[in-house]
Amino acid sequence: MSHAVNLEQAAQLLARGHVVAIPTETVYGLAADATQPKAILKVFEIKRRPLEHPLIVHLADPEGIFHWSAHLPRFASILIEHFMPGPLTIVTRRPPHVAKEITGGRDSVALRVPAHPLTRALIQRLGELRSLPYPAIAAPSANRFGSVSPTCAAHVHADFHGEDLGVLDGGLCSAGIESTIVDCTKEVPTILRLGAIPQEAIDGVLGMRVPVETHGDVRAPGMLPAHYAPRAKVVVASSLSEFQSLSQKLRESYRFVASIGAPRELSSEFNHSIPWSDDMEANARALYSTLRHLDDLGVEAVLVLLPPLSGLGAAIADRLLRASKA
Ligand code: TXA
Ligand code: MG
Repeated sequence: MSHAVNLEQAAQLLARGHVVAIPTETVYGLAADATQPKAILKVFEIKRRPLEHPLIVHLADPEGIFHWSAHLPRFASILIEHFMPGPLTIVTRRPPHVAKEITGGRDSVALRVPAHPLTRALIQRLGELRSLPYPAIAAPSANRFGSVSPTCAAHVHADFHGEDLGVLDGGLCSAGIESTIVDCTKEVPTILRLGAIPQEAIDGVLGMRVPVETHGDVRAPGMLPAHYAPRAKVVVASSLSEFQSLSQKLRESYRFVASIGAPRELSSEFNHSIPWSDDMEANARALYSTLRHLDDLGVEAVLVLLPPLSGLGAAIADRLLRASKA
């Protein structure tokens, strides 16, 4: 059975090589001590994730980045300065001490300093227990492989209730969508995953238009075309007219249908409808819990009017597009 643990229990479990579910400001993670390869393998087992899909290493402080990275180009230091702690992940060259179990055998490693105070305190406590100057935990999102990420402890319990798993409850995730991933292994940056830090903010601090290559490596799960999917069929529309024509087709094919993001006059025919808020941060925060909620209601299909593709809207649309390909 999955069960609640407090910070000290979570740190003790991690130190003894167990897996613990942890809060972050983006989504919950399924964590193991990054210095214990056997513990890392358990993460893959519990998540049912293929071994070649790499995990993100989470640190308590930005200072730890220098220990966990072999090389940082100048632009990476600027990103660290501006966005860490926070929902940014950088992919950098892997130093020899980083277990290949974490990176799926690659010569790069993904690093992030979450902004959640409980998580940072947990990593620090793990460092005390194991006498590590730069403690770290390796963690993917705490959902079964391919399904919707968890944004509260209840979501984690729902996915892993059958597992002997400690869950540290840190409340609702404030960002609600995964970190933005930037490749820092070359002399020029590339965005590998759109996320909680908008592309415009990255471009702004680097003073350039950073290219986005989110379809590059199919071994990277967040980049698989079919990912982040609820049980319900997800169909996306990018304009009102497309929404209207899909709406009729969908209601002919399914009995219990929901809409997300549609204006009121177009949603009356749906069994359930959820509008977008004008506040895009609120939309990101609610996205995964909305998809899970619609599944719980037994909704068979969801028609989504995509938000405008600027700022966080781009990351929200990215997740919904991938869900629609499942
Ligand atoms: O917000 C987040 O990033 C959350 C929380 C828990 O921190 N974590 C998360 O982990 O989303 P996960 O495993 O669901 O997604 C990690 C992403 C994947 O797309 C993975 O392929 C990519 O990071 N990644 C990890 N290491 C990489 C590497 N060395 N090179 C390229 N991509 C990498
Ligand atoms: Mg994930």
